[in-house]
Amino acid sequence: MSKLIAPSVLAADFANLQRDVEMINRSDADWFHIDIMDGVFVPNISFGMPVLRDIVKHATKTIDCHLMIVDPDRYVKTFADLGCDILTVHYEACTHLHRTLQLIKSHGMKAGVALNPHTSVHLLTDTIQDIDMVCLMSVNPGFGGQSFIENTYDKITQLKKIIDFKGCDTLIEIDGGVTDKNAKQLVEAGADVLVAGSYVFKSSDQVATIAGLKSMVNPSI
Ligand code: DX5
Ligand code: ZN
Repeated sequence: MSKLIAPSVLAADFANLQRDVEMINRSDADWFHIDIMDGVFVPNISFGMPVLRDIVKHATKTIDCHLMIVDPDRYVKTFADLGCDILTVHYEACTHLHRTLQLIKSHGMKAGVALNPHTSVHLLTDTIQDIDMVCLMSVNPGFGGQSFIENTYDKITQLKKIIDFKGCDTLIEIDGGVTDKNAKQLVEAGADVLVAGSYVFKSSDQVATIAGLKSMVNPSI
């Protein structure tokens, strides 16, 4: 399977959101990565349902929604109704993770689990067969533009071993501080999906930056 690029809309220009959504539509990007923050689970508030509804109206690619919120079960149906394809909840925000994963799937979405940098991948050994994607946070969640945490490579290697041992096809997504400096090493370690916010949106030619990232991690395509 080819490696996927998911630009993070958090880094877009919110006064020109339709323009930036259309940029992603016509680029080589695979998914839209949407960060929902509640100011409780993380020390920041991003945007909520009305903004997501308008993004979905214009987006033509998979909606990969990353919930950085407490008690995510309350909103699973809402995000399904808004058109999310993949819904990722944080391990640290779920008391009954197995139940939450079933709830997400019962609403027709793929189920993702995100791990903070301090959370061990081994905590997912007993649920990995129920998880479509693990999102490894390579920064502390809450803000774009932070520096990549190097320990992420080890976490990818360990997670990959668990996935292979259990015979699952769970995807590994990396979120935070992804650039052309670490993208290749991340996919070589076993990453399947790279989220990139600032690296894409701060560049002068965003379509070309996405294309560069995509070809760097898919050299044979
Ligand atoms: C951080 C978010 C990320 C963020 C990544 O809490 O989950 O998706 O947008 O931004 P960059 O790529 O700038 O680190
Ligand atoms: Zn994210």
